[in-house]
Amino acid sequence: MAKDRIISPTAQKLDDSAAPPSLRPKRLDEYIGQRDLVEKLRITLEAVRQRGEPMEHILLHGPPGLGKTTLAHVIAEEMGTRAYVSSGPALTKGGDLVGTLTKMQAGDVLFIDEIHRLPAAVEEYIYPAMEDFRIDFTLDTGLHAKVITYNLKPFTLIGATTRAGLLTGALRSRFGITHHLQYYDEEDLLTILRRAGRTLALSDLDDGALAMLASRSRGTPRVTLRLLRRVRDFAQVRAAGAMTAGAVREALELERIDQQGLDEMDRAYMRTIAETYEGGPVGLEAIAATLNEDPGTLEDLVEPYLLQIGFLARTRQGRKLTAGGLSHLGMAAGRGSAKGRSAPSETGEGELFP
Ligand SMILES: Nc1ncnc2c1ncn2[C@@H]1O[C@H](COP(=O)(O)OP(=O)(O)O)[C@@H](O)[C@H]1O
Ligand SMILES: [Mg+2]
Repeated sequence: MAKDRIISPTAQKLDDSAAPPSLRPKRLDEYIGQRDLVEKLRITLEAVRQRGEPMEHILLHGPPGLGKTTLAHVIAEEMGTRAYVSSGPALTKGGDLVGTLTKMQAGDVLFIDEIHRLPAAVEEYIYPAMEDFRIDFTLDTGLHAKVITYNLKPFTLIGATTRAGLLTGALRSRFGITHHLQYYDEEDLLTILRRAGRTLALSDLDDGALAMLASRSRGTPRVTLRLLRRVRDFAQVRAAGAMTAGAVREALELERIDQQGLDEMDRAYMRTIAETYEGGPVGLEAIAATLNEDPGTLEDLVEPYLLQIGFLARTRQGRKLTAGGLSHLGMAAGRGSAKGRSAPSETGEGELFP
């Protein structure tokens, strides 16, 4: 359920990597929002270019879909070098990286996605590579063991993670720049949508429609671009191509995405806390078991945005819905919240799709 929901902030096969024309920004100038980070990078890029050094190692963390992978490519582009892409789960033994590391030219970028899932054996390999641009490769075992040292060209490691907390201190401390990506505000999402509208040559796109899309995209560029495509399809088939606010509303209602940009999975999560656990506090494991979902998935894909908009609170005792969260479900806060449901409609959420 989590993987294929339309607002899933994780990449899906048909995202813009596959289908031309690409909506991915190529240069820092085209990278919208995240101003602090962009400014920091501009300065460092300029400084290392002047000194003829590689870019520092960078750790990007934050919820999925906010532009970490994009930024790794942008940095390589700005450095005029290549980006090699791998991910934590894809690397199982130290040797897996040797081929790539020895092939890389000065200034190239090695991007490791989901770096919190890097096995310890690989991590140890990476330390000397990051610090001294050197790897020690052991050939054979036992008596015949022989360590071969490779000197690497100075490169830049860019790591991305949704869970910085799971990184070892040793790995984290080896990054020169660490940055937490923020959710985008509606204005930045509007800019991204306008640019996408031009790239996709969408002419019948009114401002009201864009504003509504931006406000229901949970602060996430990947979501906003995906919703734009859904609305484009809807408008083409059902509304003679006119992408109006009305078309957006109808298209999103079909996807069961409400005014806050929440989908069935978010609401099921919230309802579980509200109804099964009387508003909380309740442990994540219990919620996950009730929903038959993986706790990590909920922690990565559902909770961050609910926390951001203040519908959910994390306390020592567990997760708790806030008054705002309860009222979004059409329930009143206070004692026995589940029983305090006000004006129940047929689905209990009729007001979410006015
Ligand atoms: N700052 C940005 N400006 C414009 N588009 C962006 C920006 N960040 C992300 N996007 C778009 O959103 C999509 C998802 O970004 P991505 O880098 O894959 O996110 P992440 O790696 O953090 O999950 C990209 O395909 C890109 O088109
Ligand atoms: Mg990514």
